[in-house]
Amino acid sequence: MKEQDSNSLFIGKVQIRLDSVDSTNKFAKDLLSKTTPIEGTVIRTDRQFAGRGQFGSNWASDEGKNITISVILFPKFLLAVQQFYLSMAVSLSVLEIIKSNIKDKVVTIKWPNDIYVNSKKIAGILIENTLNGIYLKESVIGIGINVNQEYFSSELPNPTSIFLETKQKFDLDKIVLQLSSSLERHYNSLNAAKPMDMMIEYQNNLYRKGQLSNFKIIENGEIVQGVIQGIEENGLLVLIINDLIHKFSLKQISFLL
Ligand code: BTN
Repeated sequence: MKEQDSNSLFIGKVQIRLDSVDSTNKFAKDLLSKTTPIEGTVIRTDRQFAGRGQFGSNWASDEGKNITISVILFPKFLLAVQQFYLSMAVSLSVLEIIKSNIKDKVVTIKWPNDIYVNSKKIAGILIENTLNGIYLKESVIGIGINVNQEYFSSELPNPTSIFLETKQKFDLDKIVLQLSSSLERHYNSLNAAKPMDMMIEYQNNLYRKGQLSNFKIIENGEIVQGVIQGIEENGLLVLIINDLIHKFSLKQISFLL
């Protein structure tokens, strides 16, 4: 465990650096079940051999080439029904860092929190929360950013990395520091009750907003075409399908590539 120099005051000040771990999110959750780490503790590894993705998927990352971290936060000021705000704050932070390192490309947020360069996925976010009554209690913010990886498994539908987009290798430590400051700034804005500004920024950076796209209705497997109008405060995706407004939660619809 060591203290890091960065512009942030608490995120990343304590960093637990592991040579190898199954999943940094799992490690963070185990830690929370045994002790009370300080808020902002970052768990980071060069080799994650059973990385977790959304909806029980895997997150694969070549050793030493990418960022695989989890940040421990205690967002006790947020109601459980406001948990999308956290997802929004984290997405905007990762978006900012990717944009600042990749110039002149279209970088967007694919609802709810994948980061895309054009139509390829460059980063994924897995947030695991615990609740205390109607409030959030602990949050493990897992972030995977493809940085220097050149080759990806052909099983992945559309991966990319900062290297593939820029043809340059990047210093992982520097990106972790940038990310820590950006996360802290966005998280503090949430705490200062400024989610509406963030909401606007999130919507302005939404992947395929205003374009006709294909979606799958999870309940019956039906494929529909719709145009993304925006997002509601609670994170629902607002789509226009056949001239009618429909709202979907993550469990109800998936975005088809
Ligand atoms: C997704 O897009 O499906 C989410 C991927 C999240 C991956 C990160 S890597 C660090 C952290 N630890 C994990 O096991 N998963 C997250």
